[in-house]
Amino acid sequence: NQRPSLAGTHILITAGPTHEPIDPVRVIANRSSGRQGFAIAAAAAQAGARVTLVAGPVHLPTPGGVARIDVESADEMLTAVESALPCDAAIMVAAVADWKVRSSATKLKKNGGPPALELLPNPDILATLAQHPLRPRLLVGFAAETDDLLDNAAAKRARKGADWIVANDVSGDVMGGSHNQVHLLTAVGDEAWDSAPKDEVARRLVARIAEELNKQ
Ligand code: C5P
Repeated sequence: NQRPSLAGTHILITAGPTHEPIDPVRVIANRSSGRQGFAIAAAAAQAGARVTLVAGPVHLPTPGGVARIDVESADEMLTAVESALPCDAAIMVAAVADWKVRSSATKLKKNGGPPALELLPNPDILATLAQHPLRPRLLVGFAAETDDLLDNAAAKRARKGADWIVANDVSGDVMGGSHNQVHLLTAVGDEAWDSAPKDEVARRLVARIAEELNKQ
C-alpha cells in the first residue's frame, strides 16, 4: 500500500475568499473559510510536492512545508498565481468574487444617502490559466453549486477549460463546515465520492493527482 508521491513536482493552489474593496475600510467578501484548499495544500506537501498556496483573507495556520502568499482581491490573486508559474498541477479552490467594486480612494460618507456601487467583472483565474502559455499539465477547478450540480459542473469544466472539476453541493453547511461530499468530473466521466472530512477529501484528490502526473 504505497503512498502516492508528488516528489519533484510543483503544485499551485488557491484558497479562501477574496475581499473586494469598496473604500479604504469596507470590502465585499464571501463565506469561504479556506479549509478545503488549505487541506489540499497540506496533503500535497505531505506527498512530497513543492507547494505554493495563494490564500485570500482567512484565519488558518500555514500547513507545514507550504509556501504561502497572502492576497486580498481577485486581481492580486491572479498576479500571485501568474508569478508562481510554472507548475505541474494547479488546483483552484478559492471562492473568487465574480465582481469587484469601482472603489473610492476615500471613505464613503453617510450623508447623501446610500451610495450606488458600480460593479466591474473580475478576471477568471482558472480560465486565464487554461489559456496561459505556461498552462499546467493538470488544471483542476472547483464548482460549488446549490442546484443542478452535475450539469452546471460539466458546463463549467468545458467553459473554463479545466481538466477536472471537483463539484460540491453547497446548499447545506459545506461552506465553513468540516465535511465535504464531492463529485470528481474528468474527461472520462463522473465519480461520486462519499461524504468525508475535508482532510480526507484532500488526501484522495492528491492521490488522484499523483497518479495522473506520474502516468503522463
Ligand atoms: O464560476 P465559478 O466561480 O463557479 O467557478 C469556480 C471555479 O473557478 C473555482 O475553481 C474557482 O477557484 C475558479 N474561479 C477563478 N476565478 C474567478 C472565479 C472562479 O479562478 N474569478
